[in-house]
Parts: sequence; C-alpha cells; structure tokens
Amino acid sequence: MRKHLEIGSALQMRDFGISLAAQLRMGDLLLLDGPLGAGKTFLTQHILRALNVQGEVTSPTFVMMKSYQGDFSINHIDAYRLLDLVNPRQAFEELDIDFDSSITIVEWGAGFDLTGEALHIGIDLGEGEHRTLTLEGADSRWGQLQL
Ligand SMILES: Nc1ncnc2c1ncn2[C@@H]1O[C@H](COP(=O)(O)OP(=O)(O)OP(=O)(O)O)[C@@H](O)[C@H]1O
Ligand SMILES: [Mg+2]
Repeated sequence: MRKHLEIGSALQMRDFGISLAAQLRMGDLLLLDGPLGAGKTFLTQHILRALNVQGEVTSPTFVMMKSYQGDFSINHIDAYRLLDLVNPRQAFEELDIDFDSSITIVEWGAGFDLTGEALHIGIDLGEGEHRTLTLEGADSRWGQLQL
C-alpha cells in the first residue's frame, strides 16, 4: 500500500491522528519521517491523546524513548540521535523494545522496520500549515485503513 494524503492545517493533522489511532492495535509499529518541524511529535501527541494517554506527551529527543499507558502500552521514540551512529539499526535494536505487547511510534523512524509490518508515514512540508503525507506499509491490513 502506498498513498498520499493532503493535510491543510494542524487541525486536520490532529483529525488524521485521531482516526488512525482508532484503527491501531497491539503490535503496531509506526515509523514517522520528515524534516524538523514537520509535525512528527504533534501527530504522535494526538495519537496518544486519542488512545487515552493522560497528561503531557513531550518529545523524547534527549531520553530517546518514553513509554506511556493508555488503551495500550505505547512507546514513543525519537531516533534522531541514532542516525549519526555507525550502525543506527543495531542501536535501535539495542533499545530492546517489546513490539508485540505495545504500540510503538518512532520519529525519524524510516530505517527501523524491525517487525517487517510497519506503517511508514512520511510528512512533507508545504506552505504554512500544509503537509503532504505519504503512507506506505507492506502489511495488507494498512491497505484497509479508513482515513
Ligand atoms: N499541518 C500540521 N501538522 C502538524 N504540525 C503542524 C501543522 N501545521 C503547523 N504545525 C506546527 O508545526 C510544529 C511541528 O512541530 P513538531 O515538534 O511536531 O515537529 P517534529 O516533526 O516533531 O520536529 P523534530 O524533527 O524537531 O522532532 C508544531 O508547532 C505544530 O503546531
Ligand atoms: Mg519531534
């Protein structure tokens, strides 16, 4: 599956996050990619809120990974600092995430499809609040997303 979605505003990005969240299930891996300020953390915040995570969700840039409890156990990772390492994928593996029992969302995640079933969400910047999303996932269930 590969499809593009035009997002006209931050509010629309929030709504995308809410409808995606409603279709997630345990074991899902979301790999977010896009330049600084694209909205990776913003999207994650709205997905987590929709999954009933209470309290503030902040960027895990310095701690690498934060885990939350909502309707699921949810891991939020910012892999930016791994990208400069000799072997980013190995460093990612060493985070030792239990994918099966949680939902995992990775900013700067393009290279880290450890389950082979990830949904890639690319975010391209447009004018103002405009963003173009590119959704890609090898697993057949992503083709059935209602967005
Ligand atoms: N359509 C949109 N979608 C998402 N965020 C938007 C949109 N329009 C404006 N914004 C604003 O852009 C900013 C995106 O910041 P955010 O921290 O989410 O980016 P990021 O991709 O996580 O960056 P970084 O690479 O630094 O982690 C937010 O302040 C948000 O309010
Ligand atoms: Mg971020």
